[in-house]
Amino acid sequence: MDRKPLIAGNWKLNKNCSESVEYIKKFGELVKGVNDVEILLAPPFTSLYVANENCPDNINLSSQDLYINENGAYTGQISPGMVLETGCKYAIIGHSEMRQFFGDTDSLVNEKIKASISVGLKPILCIGETEKDRDLNNTFSVLDKQVRKGLESFSESDLKDLVIAYEPVWAIGTGKTATIEIVQEVHSYLRDLIAKMFHNEFSEQLRILYGGSVKPSNVSELMNLEDVDGALVGGASLDPLEFSKIVKFKG
Ligand code: 13P
Repeated sequence: MDRKPLIAGNWKLNKNCSESVEYIKKFGELVKGVNDVEILLAPPFTSLYVANENCPDNINLSSQDLYINENGAYTGQISPGMVLETGCKYAIIGHSEMRQFFGDTDSLVNEKIKASISVGLKPILCIGETEKDRDLNNTFSVLDKQVRKGLESFSESDLKDLVIAYEPVWAIGTGKTATIEIVQEVHSYLRDLIAKMFHNEFSEQLRILYGGSVKPSNVSELMNLEDVDGALVGGASLDPLEFSKIVKFKG
């Protein structure tokens, strides 16, 4: 099955508007002509509009989160329609930092996916076990629950643009990348799980990204794995040159 690689940079709480524009100008030059990989950047909300104004055609944008309602008395929140209006094509949903620090539960994640689909934003569902989960041999039960609850009550056609990102919490920002054995084992488990929940054809076309200390030196071996279709990159996406090397993992 032909799945176009997706390499996404999640800037988290980094870069104001002018820094975002400066980055995109440099990065755009570095990845000029790259079209065999889908390139995605997820700046903070405040930078999305100017980022889009300066983005070349081969770079798409994603929000790092969104709220479930379109408007109303929800101080501090950003709606799916507002995200879409900035030019975003994707929304990252259920990142482990949103789960750990800002109260995202599986059922809220489910509602956020629904909200993103309702305006045509492609959801990137993030899942991942903690170090404790892994030590207790709970990795697969945790992932199973995050996927089943996150995707509960959706049809295949609702989820036609879904991307899943496996980000083991213990590998995020720690420099500890999961071994290629762990990554392939989990990704193939996830593809089988999706096949059981939906159909084989759906599972075969689904892109599953890996995230957690991806860098230029380890991206190729990760991308060579059968069930890895891309990367969600934090720290190493903050420097345009470093991130361009990840995007150009094919050499
Ligand atoms: P790092 O690449 O900094 O480990 O972050 C991964 C991540 O959380 C991307 O969403």
